[in-house]
Amino acid sequence: MSHDRKPLISGNWKMNCNHFEAIQIVQRLAYALDKDDHEAVEVSLHPPFTSLRSVQTVIQSDRLPLVLGAQNVHPDPEGAFTGEISAGMLAKLDVTYVIVGHSERRVHSGETDGDVNRKTKAVLAAGMLPIVCVGEDLDERSSGRAESRVAEQLAGSLDGLKAEALADVVVAYEPLWAIGTGETATPDDAQKMAAFVRAQIGERFGGAAAAAVRIQYGGSVKPGNAPDLLAQPDVDGVLVGGASLQVEDFARIVKYRLYQA
Ligand code: 13P
Repeated sequence: MSHDRKPLISGNWKMNCNHFEAIQIVQRLAYALDKDDHEAVEVSLHPPFTSLRSVQTVIQSDRLPLVLGAQNVHPDPEGAFTGEISAGMLAKLDVTYVIVGHSERRVHSGETDGDVNRKTKAVLAAGMLPIVCVGEDLDERSSGRAESRVAEQLAGSLDGLKAEALADVVVAYEPLWAIGTGETATPDDAQKMAAFVRAQIGERFGGAAAAAVRIQYGGSVKPGNAPDLLAQPDVDGVLVGGASLQVEDFARIVKYRLYQA
């Protein structure tokens, strides 16, 4: 099943790098990756909004096989929303993937599953692909509620989507206790939750949607753990935070297949 889903390795830069630094990272990364890497793996980069135009220009002018991504979007198409950015604006910048419902936005900006649902629909309507983040916190995991929490987030975030749309959706399973902590889910835990996510999507949207949806793992992904995580049959990619800012580390993660047993 997983051989149809090309691995997607995404770098979420979070609130790091001005546009000069962003250009440097992209150029160094392009140099570190080769044709074989790009044939095997799709690589998306998610700089802050202020760097999108600069990164887009480098990708276009140097014809780099890197894919542009954003970290957030407003659900409305336009209007009196000071400080916000619409899906249409991102699509015009050749953004392909948009992260929605990252746990940092759920926690610090109070984003609900309803908000994530509207954003997911706005991204799809603009012809882009949402990376929908779900994941339990430590308390939910230790009390045995990880699966029910993720099921609830999936139901709310994907509500009302057509089954065919799931082929354009990426779900990122990012347990909160693993983000920026150096703690990683074991490959086995990541596989179990990825399989659970796929089964939930199967129940709600049918077998074809479950086979087509791509599922990433995120949370302290490093060069050392990426090969085992990406070897799991239901893990179709990784969403990388801290290590995506270190060009050598991120390039090694992209080249994970060279380090697999
Ligand atoms: P870290 O890789 O820094 O743990 O961040 C994960 C993450 O939140 C990616 O979206």
